[in-house]
Amino acid sequence: MEQLLQQIEAYKQEIGSIQPDGADALEAYRIKFLGTKGIVKSLFAEMKNVPADRKKEFGQVLNEFKQLAEAKYEQWKSHGDSAHASAGPAIDLSLPGDPLPLGTHHPITLVRNQIVHIFGRLGFSVEEGPEIEDDWHNFTALNLPENHPARDMQDTFYIHQNPDWLLRTHTSSVQARVMERQKPPIRIICPGRVYRNETISARAHCFFHQTEGLYVDENVSFADLKQTLYFFVQEMFGKDVKVRFRPSYFPFTEPSAEMDINCRICGGSGCSVCKHTGWVEILGSGMVHPKMLENFGIDSNKYTGFAFGMGVERICQLKYRVNDLRLYSQNDVRFLRQFTGAV
Ligand code: PHE
Repeated sequence: MEQLLQQIEAYKQEIGSIQPDGADALEAYRIKFLGTKGIVKSLFAEMKNVPADRKKEFGQVLNEFKQLAEAKYEQWKSHGDSAHASAGPAIDLSLPGDPLPLGTHHPITLVRNQIVHIFGRLGFSVEEGPEIEDDWHNFTALNLPENHPARDMQDTFYIHQNPDWLLRTHTSSVQARVMERQKPPIRIICPGRVYRNETISARAHCFFHQTEGLYVDENVSFADLKQTLYFFVQEMFGKDVKVRFRPSYFPFTEPSAEMDINCRICGGSGCSVCKHTGWVEILGSGMVHPKMLENFGIDSNKYTGFAFGMGVERICQLKYRVNDLRLYSQNDVRFLRQFTGAV
């Protein structure tokens, strides 16, 4: 019994003097003192050799010793965990990361996508076509007479090698291509770049972007045209937008109308964009000319349709107040950066 008590005292001192040092030493400690063949277990096994009148006393000493051994183990373990955590590189996880420089969408792309999205909700799907066109798809099929100003050599870029080829002057050429291969119902939107031989200035450029639309089906009326385009400008500019239609002329539509909206720049009080009228023209439109339908073998007694075309730069100017067309193609990042996150 005395021997056992001395032994326990010695173990206590040993435990007290142990310096916690790494996971391997901790495990060795656990096996030595707390394992199934460890010291604590073997001391409890001595219980049967202890005289009955001292069993209680021995039991108390032994329990204390067991608690000490276990406490040491827990303390060492948790200290090891925190020591491990603080041993890593000093990283402040709450600091924001390094920002990656993000590109931006070009304002023309932004507005083009918005136009496509709005008409997409009305069931219009996107069609695209070549920028180098032939005379038929750009002019003749669209009922553009020989002497129409749009055919003028000064407006159209012709390809030298073959005067039948030209840079399309509008994306109505895509509508022609679709009608050529598809029968009604047709409900398409044609975004794309177009070219006209203009002197470059703040108000004119030799290329710009259009989005044209075409809807051909039975019973399509001018009321459908008005309502569709009214919906479009409300979605694009807000519910407070006002519209007016003015009679106009296009060879491929009859009747034709241009649509104006109230000036988004000055709010109607008069500025250079609306030329002090309070109104800005944003698109041309009309009922598809029966002759054009017949050009593509579509029965004009059965089907009617409407078409429209708008300049993306103009919409963009009214939306984002871009006052010089040349900014769109100069690739000045100070200009382009302003459209980060613009919707
Ligand atoms: N193509 C015409 C233009 O470029 C716009 C337009 C399209 C007008 C469809 C009426 C109908 O000016």
